[in-house]
Amino acid sequence: MKLNDAIMLVPTVVVGGISVFKRFLSPSDQLRIVGDLRQVAARAPIFSPKTKMGKPMSVRLTAAGDFGWFSDHQGYRYVRQHPSGLDWPEIPTSIMGIWKVMAAQAPDPECCLVNYYGEGARMGLHQDRDEANFDWPVVSVSLGDDALFRVGGAERGGKTASIWLQSGDVAVMGGAARLNYHGIDRIKFGSSQLLKDGGRLNVTLRVVK
Ligand code: SIN
Ligand code: FE2
Repeated sequence: MKLNDAIMLVPTVVVGGISVFKRFLSPSDQLRIVGDLRQVAARAPIFSPKTKMGKPMSVRLTAAGDFGWFSDHQGYRYVRQHPSGLDWPEIPTSIMGIWKVMAAQAPDPECCLVNYYGEGARMGLHQDRDEANFDWPVVSVSLGDDALFRVGGAERGGKTASIWLQSGDVAVMGGAARLNYHGIDRIKFGSSQLLKDGGRLNVTLRVVK
């Protein structure tokens, strides 16, 4: 048995079936990851996707890995290139390391989506269901301002529960909770000093194919 197999990862709290590891990342881990994300954004600038209706989403985004995320009048989808036509940068090893711990049994993620929430940004309840195989979890990392995360069940309109996600928290949506509805009701703008202009970064890792 490898040493890793013997270590049991125990979430701090489970909300609506989603495991939350509070303050999993130390302040120095968080700073390093933010630095790595700045390099991602230097090559793949953050943009404002539009909804099907043509409205700009309040969350802005970029990505790293084989696939990024895009949305316009044709709807939401994974795409192989940034809107500039360039490939997405590689997923930083600092972020890959979190996946290796949280999703040790899974293949490497092919998409590292980076969402930026400025003042007033939110994300409506939705399922993550554009991936080919729901056996693999979605791993979500919170950096910067606190965010009110709401989780429901796998059907729209059911009961929901909420938790404040803070900088350094890691949430894992897997197993029976993989298709649970989730969203961000609001952020507490300015509650963290991690990002110099305030706001929140959320990084999600997924196996796409
Ligand atoms: C998402 O569901 O893509 C983002 C969730 C979050 O911002 O914590
Ligand atoms: Fe999501």
